[in-house]
Amino acid sequence: MLNAILPVEAYTSEQFFQLEQRHIFTEHWQCAGLIEDLIAPGDYLTAKVGLADILVVKGQDNQLSAYHNACRHRGTRLLDGKGKTGTRIVCPYHSWSYDLAGNLLGLPEHKRQFSQLDKSCYGLKPAKVGVWRGMIWVHAKPDAIELVDWFAPMAEQLAPYDIGSLIESPDDLVSQEINANWKIVVENYIDHYHLAHLHSGTLSMYDHKRAKFGFADHHFHFWEPLSADYQQDISTNAPLPLLMDKADPTLGAWVPMLFPGIGLAETESSWSVFHIVPLAVDKTRVNIRAKVKNTSSLAFMSQAAKSYAYWQRKVKAKSAKQGDKHPLGSGDFMQEDVYVCEQLQQAMKSPYFSFGPLAERSELPVYQHQQLVWQLIAPHWQT
Ligand SMILES: [Fe+2]
Repeated sequence: MLNAILPVEAYTSEQFFQLEQRHIFTEHWQCAGLIEDLIAPGDYLTAKVGLADILVVKGQDNQLSAYHNACRHRGTRLLDGKGKTGTRIVCPYHSWSYDLAGNLLGLPEHKRQFSQLDKSCYGLKPAKVGVWRGMIWVHAKPDAIELVDWFAPMAEQLAPYDIGSLIESPDDLVSQEINANWKIVVENYIDHYHLAHLHSGTLSMYDHKRAKFGFADHHFHFWEPLSADYQQDISTNAPLPLLMDKADPTLGAWVPMLFPGIGLAETESSWSVFHIVPLAVDKTRVNIRAKVKNTSSLAFMSQAAKSYAYWQRKVKAKSAKQGDKHPLGSGDFMQEDVYVCEQLQQAMKSPYFSFGPLAERSELPVYQHQQLVWQLIAPHWQT
C-alpha cells in the first residue's frame, strides 16, 4: 500500500515553509517570464527565487544578464516589477549606480566619502539566466547547473511545438490566489486519479484511461490523447486553431510539472504556463500565461463559432444543483481544483485529520513529489 510520506506539518508549519523557501525555491531554476517581456536594451524584469530577489536585464548587446536585485552598498532593492531602466540602474537610497553589465559606476561624492573604495569589488552580484521553451528562467547561483541539462530528462516528454512561434493570448492572463499550501496545488496538478471524477464534466475531451505519466528525474511528465468523440471531428470541435496536424497520432495534451512548481499545459490548440508561487504556508499564487497559434483573428472567430455547439453539449458542471456561483456548479475545471485544494487545507486544521492511502498507479506521482520534497527538507527538519 502506498502511504503519504510528508507529515501534515509539511502543509501547515511555518518552519517547514521557511525551509522549503531556503532549500527548494532558492536552490532551483525558476520561471521569471516569457521572452516577449524583454525586447529592447534596458528592458528588465524582477523575480523572487525563493528568498533571493533577482533582476534580469537586456544589455546593450541584446544579451540577457541576471543579478541579485540589491545595491552593494546597503542592500536596497534596485528595481521593481518590470519595465525599462535606460542605460543604468540607480539605487534609490544613496544613488549608487550600475551599468547593464553590473559594474559600479561613479558614486556621488565618491572621493570624499569613500577614500579607499575599489569600485571593481562592488559590481552587482551575478545570478544565472537562461531561455528554455520561450520562457526566461533564473537561478540565484551563477554556477548553477545549465538550464538545458536541468530539463534534459524532459526532452522527449513535451509537445513538438515551436513555442517561440506562438503568440501570447492576453485574454488568458490569470493570476489567482489559492488558500492552500503550494504542495497541495502541485499534488492536485499531478494527480491522475481525480481527472475522471472531479472533472468528469469539465475535462472529458481527453481520454484519461490512456494517459501516460511518470517522473523523469525531478520533473513530472504527462500525456493523454483526445477522447474519441472530440477527436472524431476535431477540425470542428477544437475551440481554437489546432497547433498540430489533425491526423497526428500524438494529438492530445502534454501536462508536465517542472520542479519546483512550474506546470505547463501544452494542448492540441493552446500552450500555457501555470506558475505556482508559494506566498505563505497556506497561501499560493498561481500565474497563468497562455499562447496560441499565430494566425488571423478571423481564424479564431471562425473556429470559436464552429466549435460552440460541441462545447455547449460537452461541458457539464460537477454538481449543477449547487448553482453556477459554487465552484462545483461552475463547469470550470480550475474552480473545481481550487475548491478541493482549499478544502484540504482547511481539513488539515483539525487535530483529527489524517491522510488515507494513495492510489498505487494514479497517485504514485503524488508520492514521488513528496519524496523529492522530503529528501531536500528532512536533513533540516526538527520536530
Ligand atoms: Fe484537477
